[in-house]
Amino acid sequence: MLKGVSVLLFLLFILSQCNDTMSSGGQVSNETDMAAYGKEIYKTHCAMCHGERGNAKIAQSADLTITKMNTTEISDLIYHGKKTMPRFAEVLGEPEINAVSNYVLTLKAMK
Ligand code: HEC
Repeated sequence: MLKGVSVLLFLLFILSQCNDTMSSGGQVSNETDMAAYGKEIYKTHCAMCHGERGNAKIAQSADLTITKMNTTEISDLIYHGKKTMPRFAEVLGEPEINAVSNYVLTLKAMK
């Protein structure tokens, strides 16, 4: 049992190291920066359809404040696009897509 826990902790440690190396590639150093970064990307690339608060529904876009998607599903959708929502795979990099996906979920709380 204890062994299992330490293996898990070890894996978490590796994962957290991984994240650190990834984010040092961009300019994101902590969670606050991550949220601010996500917000900037959102304003530039998403707000024209979804609105600053996520619920503008311009061009038949979905209301992001009531989405049931998780960050993985949101990232996927951003990569590939859906109907009139463009794909962003050629526009945004992975750290940017991750940041904006996380930001989308914060719109729920701001409602
Ligand atoms: C050109 C307008 C447009 C832009 C720009 C746009 N979207 Fe969308 N978005 C849409 C439309 C339309 C849908 C609904 C697609 C459908 O019919 O399922 C949608 C759906 C979504 C959904 C699914 C919500 C749900 O629960 O079904 C998410 C999440 C989302 N957009 C996030 C984003 C993010 C993040 C960005 C910026 C990177 C973005 N969108 C940019 C038009 C847009």
